[in-house]
Amino acid sequence: MQTSLRVTQFRESVIRDMTRLALQHNAINLSQGFPDFGTEQAIVEAAVTAVRDGLNQYTITWGYPPLRQKLAELYSERLGWAVHPDHHVTVTCGVTEAIVIAMMAVLNPGDEVIILEPAHDNFRPAAIMASAVPVAIPLTPPDYRITPEMLATAVTSHTRALLLNTPHNPTGRVWDAAELQAITDIVLKHDLVLITDEIYDRILYDGRSHLSPGSLPALRDRTITISGLGKTFAVTGWRLGYVVAPDELMSAIRPLHDFTSICAPTPLQAAGAAALSLPPSFYEATTAAYHERRALMMAILENSGFHATPPQGAYYIMADYRRLPIPQAQLPPMAFARWLTTEAGVAVVPGDSFYSLPGFGDGLVRFAFPKKRETLEEAARRLAGRLIQS
Ligand SMILES: Cc1ncc(COP(=O)(O)O)c(C=O)c1O
Repeated sequence: MQTSLRVTQFRESVIRDMTRLALQHNAINLSQGFPDFGTEQAIVEAAVTAVRDGLNQYTITWGYPPLRQKLAELYSERLGWAVHPDHHVTVTCGVTEAIVIAMMAVLNPGDEVIILEPAHDNFRPAAIMASAVPVAIPLTPPDYRITPEMLATAVTSHTRALLLNTPHNPTGRVWDAAELQAITDIVLKHDLVLITDEIYDRILYDGRSHLSPGSLPALRDRTITISGLGKTFAVTGWRLGYVVAPDELMSAIRPLHDFTSICAPTPLQAAGAAALSLPPSFYEATTAAYHERRALMMAILENSGFHATPPQGAYYIMADYRRLPIPQAQLPPMAFARWLTTEAGVAVVPGDSFYSLPGFGDGLVRFAFPKKRETLEEAARRLAGRLIQS
């Protein structure tokens, strides 16, 4: 049977592999980034009501109008231009779809797109699905800084786009003003399109606030802003993402969305509109809870002998295991992650799986901590039993 060349260039997600391994071995799943705590009751009720009220057919392809209306209001404020629900917003089946169609909308075969690594594992396949060439820039621990020099060396005459994820998975970085300036300079100098992934825009620590790169005046006309509801509202299985973009870019994106998924699930979009109507107290409570989880996860890692820097945003920690007092500390990341899952009962993601470039991510595994206190405490017991006493 003949299959395409593109499917030889990537495989299924290592993150989702680790979830399957966790299920097989009854491990605490700190690999894939999804909450194990409940979803806000008002949102759940809104979904149930929508189904009962008969919102069970396709919505128009761009998205359920009240949801687009909410998003247009939010993004007019965030981006500083008049985002119109009928022209500039499209609701997608998750951020994953949004990234794929954004790349397909702006890249031709052979065009290059710059991806900063470590990177979430759908960016590279998305570029390949668009018949484009992903060009990786490796960022390195402990600070994972973006510099103008590294951006300059990645650009060629084929570069057309740059993908920027902020707050960043897996490092927890929130790019600062100097880094955003470097991105802006390179995008303008080489006439690139900026595609952003801002799925963690509401999960920030230590008083930080989110800055959408597309709000920078110089980037407004050339930025495809992408985010989603899955992480913010603990509904990752609802598959709700969205794209906000100026006219020309959105016109290119919409047919791709239409023929990829027609529309995101209608009743869940209705519940998404309800979610975006939650009062500020929801976000305050969520932020406080994430600070507690981050503190607990950092303490667990330190007590069990890992070395890590607290994230500035998102809900992951890249932890260095090389100084653990066990022979497995010498294993490469995949072998260590598998050992930790199957023998210690705590599933994590190997650090090198976030890099396409060889030689990066050594000695690192990613812990996801959007979990109940009990879950994290059970992980702590398992780690202590296996790492400290072995
Ligand atoms: C940076 C980033 N982008 C996209 C996704 C996937 O988003 P969605 O579930 O909305 O497709 C994730 C999930 O972990 C992510 O971390």
